[in-house]
Amino acid sequence: MTQDELKDAVAAAAIDEIAPSLENDTVLGIGTGSTANLFIDRLAALRHDFKGAVASSEASAERLRGHGIEVFELNSVGSIPFYIDGADEVNAHLHMIKGGGAALTREKIVAACAETFVCIADASKKVDRLGEFPLPVEVIPMARSYVARELVKLGADPVYRQGVVTDNGNQIIDCFEFMIDDPVAMETRLNAIVGVVTNGLFAARGADVLLLGTSRGVERLT
Ligand code: 5RP
Repeated sequence: MTQDELKDAVAAAAIDEIAPSLENDTVLGIGTGSTANLFIDRLAALRHDFKGAVASSEASAERLRGHGIEVFELNSVGSIPFYIDGADEVNAHLHMIKGGGAALTREKIVAACAETFVCIADASKKVDRLGEFPLPVEVIPMARSYVARELVKLGADPVYRQGVVTDNGNQIIDCFEFMIDDPVAMETRLNAIVGVVTNGLFAARGADVLLLGTSRGVERLT
């Protein structure tokens, strides 16, 4: 199977995962990226079975609305039973690196509000140790150079993601050559740098369920 076919297989599996729990007042949390897009496209068929969604990016919000799914502001929503999103890397503890699509801050906020984080990913995303994928850090623009210097002190090779402005009006630094032994500690350490808005480690609150697309089928890990 191609990578896109594996992504679509996990999108379908995520529909099976959440469909039995949908009710008229259910608001879902929806992630960002190509895997999340495939999930959104499949979710369209169920749009009459739930109330709507909170999106982690303007791009996902637009795609949801395009399918006739109502998009709500997070502040107007009570509980979110599921957050469904992809990942750039995920380990055996279901810690992740996210933010390849620059949506990490809103992804982390919506994920924090969700009872269950369902990560959908093709097998290429599963790693023993996080960090081969450059870790994104969202920064307040005026702090970019300062944060980059602090990241060098931690051993990273920080690279400014040129031309990218996040939905929050901020910038992204990608940390290359930055293998991570303790994702929970590093997530906290990076967030303590003044000027950092969020970093792409999702470890303190990792995924609860991983649907992993492999050549043998979709594996469900918890
Ligand atoms: C966006 C993300 C995505 O979940 C991550 O980049 C995976 O994307 P894709 O499903 O396209 O491989 O964190 O900020």
